[in-house]
Amino acid sequence: MTQRNAVVLAAGLGTRMKSRRHKVVHEVCGQPMIRHVVDHLKASKVDRIVVVVGHLAEQVRAVLGDEVEYVFQERALGTGHAVLQAAPLLEGTEGQTLVVYGDTPLIRPETFQRLADVQQMTGAAAAVLTAVVDHPEGYGRIVRDGDQIRAIVEEKDADEQIRAIREVNAGTYCFDTEQLFDAVRRLDNGNRQGEYYLTDCAEILQKDGRRVTPVLLEDAGEMAGVNDRVQLAAVEESMRRRILEYWMREGVTVVDPRSTYVDSDVVIGRDTVILPGTWLQAGTRIGEDCRIGPAARLSASVVEDGVRVEQSVVLGSTLRSGCTVGPFAYVRPGSDVGPGAKIGDFVEVKNALIGAGTKAAHLTYIGDADVGEGVVLGCGTITVNYDGVQKHRTRIGDRAFVGCNSNLVAPVTVGSDAYVAAGSTITEDVPDGAMAIARERQINKEGYTATLQHKLRGRRMKSEESRES
Ligand code: UD1
Ligand code: CA
Repeated sequence: MTQRNAVVLAAGLGTRMKSRRHKVVHEVCGQPMIRHVVDHLKASKVDRIVVVVGHLAEQVRAVLGDEVEYVFQERALGTGHAVLQAAPLLEGTEGQTLVVYGDTPLIRPETFQRLADVQQMTGAAAAVLTAVVDHPEGYGRIVRDGDQIRAIVEEKDADEQIRAIREVNAGTYCFDTEQLFDAVRRLDNGNRQGEYYLTDCAEILQKDGRRVTPVLLEDAGEMAGVNDRVQLAAVEESMRRRILEYWMREGVTVVDPRSTYVDSDVVIGRDTVILPGTWLQAGTRIGEDCRIGPAARLSASVVEDGVRVEQSVVLGSTLRSGCTVGPFAYVRPGSDVGPGAKIGDFVEVKNALIGAGTKAAHLTYIGDADVGEGVVLGCGTITVNYDGVQKHRTRIGDRAFVGCNSNLVAPVTVGSDAYVAAGSTITEDVPDGAMAIARERQINKEGYTATLQHKLRGRRMKSEESRES
């Protein structure tokens, strides 16, 4: 087996992004751009991944951690100079080296695989991924010599004739490792940008009598690179469509793909229906037979089978099978909504366990609480969890019934099968099976209205008398 390396370039300045963040850490469908590149490389079976970092290196390292190796390019002197920095790690090894730019996240694992296969089978010095596009502006142009590549010419160095070429360099290559470093060592920077272009390796190798073979992309859209934020949005749109098509083919109904956003690592079960205006963010897993949306945002959450979420936000939580959330609910991190439970309109749940079949149908706040099974939380139930300094927990036993507009001042426990009368402010534990009433006793003043009207009439008469006299 030949060794297959990958060198990922991420040391450029990314000037056109006009950003304090490194270009390759900008997100596409919920993941940093370079995360996609590295994941796709891994899926295409590479033995070693070396990432060239420089400008804002720590941001790139923060994303990839120690799952790749790094080399440092002190100054961004060009893509060829960037590859040269990997020489101490890779030069002298047998086999092949893929070179990939960190700003082209749409290239599929199968494409890396195909490129590597072509290089290996043909014994070419390099296989270069190319695409024929309607708008070649900004890309390096492929100058062919029959079925091989004679040179790659950057737009800025191209004359009219070369600019008219519509076959472009996708910026992804598979080199014979030895040939690669032999060629990058001979690059010069005598061009319009004064950079050491990796693309010049094509001409160097070709003049050596080696073959540089183009591999044409069937789907030209795969090569789209991100140099500015307009291209960032275009790449996001392409990946979004790809993700949605994947899930639709897996048996998920997406009612309106144009208004549905699913991040790249999200998993969705069969027969689940995603309604318009829904955004499923990174770290979310949805089970089968769910109805999510319209207008739902779920992030880093686990949703079991048969769950309904409508017009709601769910963050970092678990929704157990058959529960319903919304419309207009807010489930905040650390919550676990039990099977068949109901979290209704204008209900906020935070860091709370909600037992099976428990209902909080409207206007309720459940924060830092352990709520048992089959509990009824009346409209306006509030866990008073914060004393201004610390957060405290509320415990509510199974089958308890909390009447409307009750404050449960934590730390406090409402026992199982207990009742809390509506309008209570509970500051002491309620024993199992007890009924607590904690509110002012009602006083009725009989005949009050009549007395009041009598007084008013008397006062009016007096004032009329005084005016007449
Ligand atoms: C490059 C290609 C062009 C191709 C296009 C495809 C060259 C000279 N040109 O142009 O032919 O059509 O990609 O998208 O290669 N980088 C470094 N160090 C540097 C310079 C760049 O690590 O010194 C990295 C950047 O971070 C980026 C990648 O290399 O991830 C590509 O650089 P970029 O400046 O975007 O090249 P393009 O002008 O797009
Ligand atoms: Ca680029």
